[in-house]
This record gives sequence, structure tokens and C-alpha cells, in this order.
Amino acid sequence: MNSTATETRIDKIVTTKSNKKKVFIETYGCQMNFADSEVVLSILKNNQYEKSENAIESDLILINTCSIREKAEINIRKKLSAYKKLKKNNKIKIGVLGCMAERLKKKFLEEEKIVDLVVGPDSYRDIPNLLDKVGNNERAINVKLSKFETYEKIIPERINSNKVSAFVSITRGCDNMCTFCVVPFTRGRERSRDPKSILNEIHLLEKKGFKEVTLLGQNVDSYLWYGGGLKKDYSKASSLQKKTSLRFNNLLEIIAKEKPKMRIRFSTSNPQDMSDEVIEAISKYRNICKHIHLPFQSGSNKILKKMNRLHTREEYLRLITKIKNKIPNCSISHDIITGFPSENDEDHLDTLNLMESVKYDYGYMFKYSERPGTLAQKKFTDNVPMEIKNIRLNEIILKQKNHSFFRNQQYLNKIVCVLIEKESKKSDEFWSGRTTQNVVVVFSKKNFSLGDFVDVRVENCTSATLIGDGLRISKDI
Ligand code: 5AD
Ligand code: SF4
Repeated sequence: MNSTATETRIDKIVTTKSNKKKVFIETYGCQMNFADSEVVLSILKNNQYEKSENAIESDLILINTCSIREKAEINIRKKLSAYKKLKKNNKIKIGVLGCMAERLKKKFLEEEKIVDLVVGPDSYRDIPNLLDKVGNNERAINVKLSKFETYEKIIPERINSNKVSAFVSITRGCDNMCTFCVVPFTRGRERSRDPKSILNEIHLLEKKGFKEVTLLGQNVDSYLWYGGGLKKDYSKASSLQKKTSLRFNNLLEIIAKEKPKMRIRFSTSNPQDMSDEVIEAISKYRNICKHIHLPFQSGSNKILKKMNRLHTREEYLRLITKIKNKIPNCSISHDIITGFPSENDEDHLDTLNLMESVKYDYGYMFKYSERPGTLAQKKFTDNVPMEIKNIRLNEIILKQKNHSFFRNQQYLNKIVCVLIEKESKKSDEFWSGRTTQNVVVVFSKKNFSLGDFVDVRVENCTSATLIGDGLRISKDI
């Protein structure tokens, strides 16, 4: 072999090899966490990192964590122990982000020796500085919560994107203080993001071919932009700030008008904050999706009060009636917690009855999990036995399954407009997409493409999915 040939070859290797470090990001929990991981990746990409698909091959593993229930935290601890082996033979650094980082703070570093970096949800801009410390073999932490941070101007780097639908966060934190919930402690006080930066992000998504955005926040209906700052400080705003402030219905309308070809979804809504104007906006604009995720947690007024939910059963039901009257084709989903302290059979029946009167399209159902530091943990005993929680949860799940099936049956033989999002998991000959009501529909691919809006005739259904035949490109959205 002649030496110049070898040199050239080495040269080529040198020029094609990236000198960037590799980061592997793993996300647990809610949609907000998934959206945050995309912000973190964007920050890291601007700091000489690139995304890795594989933990073993990376220089940095980041786990974006969830604290909402004990089980979520247990899973994350298990994952960390699995990474112990990896760390032994390797120079990999491990960072913990998100709610669990915020909840445990320094304790995390004490309890989990393999963790090098702990960063709370409002401190992601500091990650590059913290990584410098980690590079010097120090352990680094920043868990400061912020009055202002909304990560505006950071364009998220999409992870596992289907290139059709994306999350866009519009508020951070939560002021509600439901007694069972750890979120107000881990994500801080509520603040809203500048509408200009929201619109800019959506504009860039549209330019890349995205067809749907989901506006995210713990409580989107209480969106309030008055120039920046906490929602609770609105009373201190100047009269000009108040006069020019924007609420959620204004934001929805602005986006709906600006982006008539994009679908707009939003989550999560809280009953006490859903205004008539928001309902009006949903009914008025065809590109605002006809679906509302409206958790009620319990059907019993006694339990709602102990949960510090800011609505009664009756108020909640009145709101549902209002929505159904104004938007007859609107689907409604829920979150329910069963087995909250002191919940008895009568309270449980109240929950089942409420479900019966609404007949939700779908929902998320959980057993109460006591969280350290919450008001419920301080004030009440977690006194519903696990067996009872299990029985109640199964009853709730069964009822929901029946209602979902009932709701899906209403679409049989009808034509629905579906946005194609991905290949069906069960067959590569089928597309999978959703209707405006957020119902999943699968149908034969034919000549349709990812991102198409398609009129589909519904021929069959299960409680989770509609199965149909794609007829033509839809004029609807
Ligand atoms: N235990 C069980 N479920 C909970 N949720 C929030 N906190 C808890 C808890 N401590 C549920 C609520 C909320 C959803 C995001 O998670 O139903 O709406
Ligand atoms: Fe938690 Fe209640 Fe805030 Fe939702 S509204 S994040 S359940 S405190």
C-alpha cells in the first residue's frame, strides 16, 4: 500500500468526523416535558452537541423526569440504576432534568451517585454553563424557578417528530394548587409566553410543512399576556398593559386567522377558567379543533373541595352543557383520580354518575398517589386501601371503555376529515391520523400522503379507533 493513499484516507476520515459531542435525551411524563426536551436539545445544538439515538454511544445522557405519581419516579430510579453499568466503563455524564430534579434538588445528587447534573424546568438556558463544570469533574445543579422564563425565542429542535403535528408551549407553571398535585411546586408560578414568539414558532412550523399545533400549558385557558411576568402580578400592571393584554380566546383567534390551513389544538383546560369567549372561538373557527380536554378529577363535591378544585360538580356539568349546546360536535375527554383520601363508595358513585351523564369520548384515569410536600399529603391520610383503589379504577376504566365505544359508533357510515400523521402501527399498508375530535382513524394508504387531509368513510370501530376507507383529499380541515 502506498503511503500517500493512506494519508488521503485518514484525511477524509478527519474531515467527515464530527467534533460535536453527542447527547441522548430520554423523556418521561406529560406533553410539556416532551416540549421542554425539544427546547433543551435546541440549546445544546447551539453549544456543540448533536442528538444521539443511542445511550451507549453518547457523551451525555439527559433524563427529563416526571413527579406526578410515585410510579413515575420509581421508573426513573430504575432507569438510573440501569445506567450505572454504562457509566462504569465509560466517560458518559448523566443529567436529570424536569420535575423530579426540581422536587428533590440537591438530594438527588446525594441519593444517586451517578448523577452529574440536576436542572429544574426553568433553568435550561444555564445547561451549557453547568456542563462546563461537569466537564471539570464537578457536579452541577440549578433548580431556580423563574418569574419570567418561557423560553421564547428558542426554536425547539423537534425530537421524533412526524413532521405533521407539533407541541407549542404557551404557558408555564400553575397557580391552581390542587391539593394532590406536585406541579405547582416543580414548575413554579404561572406565566404566559409572548404571543409574537408563539406565532413565530407556528409560522416556522408551517413553513416546514407542519399541519397541526397543540398549544400547551398546565392551564391554557388562563393564558394572560400583559407584557411578561407572573399571572398573579397582573393586578400590578399599568392601565396600558391591562388595556392591551391578551387572553386565551384572543390568542386562539389570532392564530386561527393567521394560519387558516393549520389545525389548532390545546391542552389542558381547567373548568373554572374556560370562558364563554373561548367556547365561542372554538365554534367560530373551523381550524380550531372540536375537542376539549377537561379534567374533573372527582364527581363528588366533598372530594372536589378537599382537592381544592375550583369548581363544583354542578358548575362542571353546566359548563359541559354550554359546550355541547354551542359546539354539538365537540368531543370531551377527562382526567379522573380515584381513591383520594376519605373517598367512600358514595363519592365513587358520584364519579361514575358524572361519567354516565357526560359520556366522555376518552379519558385518563389514575389511582391517587400521595406526593411529598403537597397539601393533601400534609393534611390528609392516604386512607383508601390499594385493593379498593384498584376496584374503583377498574370500574371507571370499564365505564370509559363502553362510553368510548358508544361515541365511536356514532361515526359509523359517516365521512370524517382525517389528518394523516403516521403509518398505522399494525400495518404498513395503512395510514393513521386523527379527526378534529381527536379520534384516531386508520385506513388504506392508496395514493394519500403524510400530512394530507383526507375524507374517510368510517366502516368499523373499536373503543379506541375508527377504521375506514379514504375517499378523496378533503376540503375540510
Ligand atoms: N395522584 C394521581 N394522579 C394525579 N394527577 C395529578 N396528581 C396526581 C396524584 N398525586 C393526575 C390528575 C391530573 C393529571 C395530569 O394527573 O388527574 O389532571
Ligand atoms: Fe396540578 Fe391542578 Fe395545576 Fe393541573 S391544575 S397542574 S392538577 S395543580
